[in-house]
Amino acid sequence: MARHGVYPHDIVPAKSKYFDSGRFGRMFGKLPAFAADTPEIRAALLDIGKAGGIMDAKDKLSEGPVKLITDPTLGVKNTDNPNLTAGFTFLGQFLDHDMTFDPTSSLERQADPEHISNFRTPSLGLDNVYGSGPGGSPHLYDQSAAGRGIKFLLEETGTPGKSDVPRNSQRVALIGDPRNDENLIVNQLQVAFLRFHNAACEYAKTKIKLTAPDQIFAEAQRLVRWHYQWILVHEFLKKTCGEAVVDDILENGRKFYKWNNEPFIPVEFSVAAYRFGHSQIRPSYRANFTGGPGGTPFFAMIFTPTPSDPVDPDDLSGGCRAPRRFIDWPTFFDFKDGNVKPNKKIDTTLSTALFKLPGSVVANPNATSNPQSLAQRNLLRHLTFSLPSGQRVAKAMSLPVLSKGDLSDLKAHGLDDRTPLWFYVLREAQTVENGERLGPVGARIIAEVFLGLLQGDQSSYLSQDPEWQPSLPCIDSSLTGDDFRIVDLLRFAGVA
Ligand code: HEM
Repeated sequence: MARHGVYPHDIVPAKSKYFDSGRFGRMFGKLPAFAADTPEIRAALLDIGKAGGIMDAKDKLSEGPVKLITDPTLGVKNTDNPNLTAGFTFLGQFLDHDMTFDPTSSLERQADPEHISNFRTPSLGLDNVYGSGPGGSPHLYDQSAAGRGIKFLLEETGTPGKSDVPRNSQRVALIGDPRNDENLIVNQLQVAFLRFHNAACEYAKTKIKLTAPDQIFAEAQRLVRWHYQWILVHEFLKKTCGEAVVDDILENGRKFYKWNNEPFIPVEFSVAAYRFGHSQIRPSYRANFTGGPGGTPFFAMIFTPTPSDPVDPDDLSGGCRAPRRFIDWPTFFDFKDGNVKPNKKIDTTLSTALFKLPGSVVANPNATSNPQSLAQRNLLRHLTFSLPSGQRVAKAMSLPVLSKGDLSDLKAHGLDDRTPLWFYVLREAQTVENGERLGPVGARIIAEVFLGLLQGDQSSYLSQDPEWQPSLPCIDSSLTGDDFRIVDLLRFAGVA
């Protein structure tokens, strides 16, 4: 079954309130496409994004998951980013699944973004977690006396204290967005948010002394959303884009992301800039400290093309439940205990495992029309939506433009001065910021869209109370308010 980004249209309920809001649009509507959709350009994009091509980090997968992390000589292109830890990749993926989902456009045909439905509400309100709420999505909520229909339903992995999302009898996750079961790490972030909400319900009951279930739910949901939005502005965005651009937009406003009636997702963001996260993915991870044989750490590849066992594969695919399939967060976020691992730098290479995505991610692959290479899919999607080149976007933003020399590896394809925007954003991060964060064009697009979505959402903390600061406790009790970070959220949720 296809699980991530490639859903057939007919599985979606046609009239669902949950699914039918929003369209895509353009941020730089007047700019022409980077190239016409010709057989030559298609061939060039397939060549650039192919396995073994210039975007393949050429990880020595045969060395196995442990050595790929611990032996630096194997990681020439798998270099450590001192600015971002491994968990930020999956927080980024989780954020994507809160804002945007295009399961219908084709890699073979051009499409007008304004005629393509976004199957997520274009906001950062956690509809991937809450679904349509206790009334509209009762299957997500615990209907027992303890859950009162307002707490989320969770199930056990088989290891005491470690939860999995609920699943139906065929192992399909019962969650607000199916893509949050695409790999084990994003699955466990979903679990963390479900438990965060449940803990916030207890807080609303015991600390705020609310008694009616609907009041408890509403207050817990507000706490969850606002703390999450705080983290994405003050931790995720500032680390990914740099503090200066975030502060500038908050103080002086957005320059490029504007809308008439309500916010939409620009294709320059969803097809290009925000796919930067694909280059942060590592070939393998340490999932936890005790799930391996004899209570040793469980290391695994992010994906293997043909996972060994559908119930408990030896990679980090989602869609399965087994006692070892849980995440210990200190590898992914910095709990100051020396266990954290860094992200891969942002550059124009992707981990080799992503050039042959498994059938659970890309169903019915075809080398030219439905490729298994994530890089090829991203590049072809630029033709679907006629995206402008990175150079034109940089000029339109009055930002420095990369030189042809910076993009000389695209010269053979004639794309060194009209570069697909995703590739451009990655090369800009690599060239201008040494791969530690996004460069000026990528950072500005992403920060404007995130902050614009929050400013356009009447229920966000930036709209309702821009001076608000977090009220839930930090791990370090000497810190409060604006110091609240993802580690504090995970601790409050009871998963770390
Ligand atoms: C293991 C991790 C990930 C995998 C396997 C993965 C895979 C995919 C796949 C297969 C697609 C659909 C490609 C297409 O057909 O056009 C996609 C779309 C996308 N991905 Fe990822 N991704 C991962 C992580 C991330 C991260 C970390 C980010 C950003 C920080 C990200 C951002 C996006 C965006 C913005 C889209 C387009 C979404 C839409 O509009 O439908 N992904 N990803």
